[in-house]
Amino acid sequence: MAEDLVSQLGALGEEFARAIAPLGDEQSIRDVQARYLGKKGKVTLLMRDMGGLDPDRRKAVGAEFNRIKNAITDAVDARLRELEQAVHQRDLARTVDVTLPGRSGWDGHVHILSQVRAEQVAIFAELGFDIAEGPQVETDFHNFEALAMPKDHPARDMQDTFYVTDDIVLRTHTSPVQIRTMLARKPPVRIVAPGVVYRRDDDPTHSPMFTQMEGLLVDRHVRFSDLKGVLLHYVRRFFGKATLDVRFRPSYFPFVEPGAEVDMQCAFCSGGGTSSCRVCKGTGWVEIGGSGMVDPDVFAHVGYDSELYTGFAFGMGVERMAMLRHGVNDIKYYYTGDLRFLRQF
Ligand code: PHE
Repeated sequence: MAEDLVSQLGALGEEFARAIAPLGDEQSIRDVQARYLGKKGKVTLLMRDMGGLDPDRRKAVGAEFNRIKNAITDAVDARLRELEQAVHQRDLARTVDVTLPGRSGWDGHVHILSQVRAEQVAIFAELGFDIAEGPQVETDFHNFEALAMPKDHPARDMQDTFYVTDDIVLRTHTSPVQIRTMLARKPPVRIVAPGVVYRRDDDPTHSPMFTQMEGLLVDRHVRFSDLKGVLLHYVRRFFGKATLDVRFRPSYFPFVEPGAEVDMQCAFCSGGGTSSCRVCKGTGWVEIGGSGMVDPDVFAHVGYDSELYTGFAFGMGVERMAMLRHGVNDIKYYYTGDLRFLRQF
């Protein structure tokens, strides 16, 4: 009986060794281990028969049982180590083609409006203009009052204003930077002031927030023809066409006299006015901003002597200039962050 148990255990040991030899994954090795050493495993069940043995024999069989149990556990460990080694070897053997081109991400770039704004500033800088800036949340005094628009002035209705309080507004134009600059400096003054402005306006060519570029030049003997010369230079440089013309249409802005709206020849159809041109609608001209000679009333607000000094000012839409140059037909494209649009520039 006892001899019998010993040889049966030995046979189970050999059977187990054959069973795990072909296995290639941890789970099936553990399964086989359980089939021999688990609660209902073959080896475990066999050991129950030990109970009937006399103490001497029981000792011998017990020793054999422990030997087989250890042999099985060792075999499992060894087999698992082998598998791990094999995986490691495969990793080491994998070849890497270092000559393949790398995969590079997309770096992003300066937003089209910032590009255009920087270009425009650079053009005016060539003519000797400095950059000036002012706050977007502005006082009624700088945005209206000092620009010859007192509280009851009807021209205030031209600009649909966002009011913060009765006396504080989101600036409706960059013209308050004229006031801030003149209050801070003595003439001569030659500045451009790019910046964001706000109006209650919303359609394909108007956005409640947009960018203007203000210009101001004050000195002795400044004439309207100087204004025309500066603007001519500007549109020709910006559109890269040496023959583009500008024209002035009489218009009213309280802070200039005379005042004019500025048109430039349509850069799309080169001013030909072909009826099919979707940019100028066949007129050959497109509006780019307002302008005029600084009103003496404004000089009075900032303490400049209008007997000694004259000046011109202009204000242009930065988005509008960018739309005209790139043929963009909805101002919202600039703000909605659609990469398909932005990546083109
Ligand atoms: N500030 C005016 C506007 O936004 C434009 C302008 C600027 C007109 C300077 C004349 C002189 O409508």
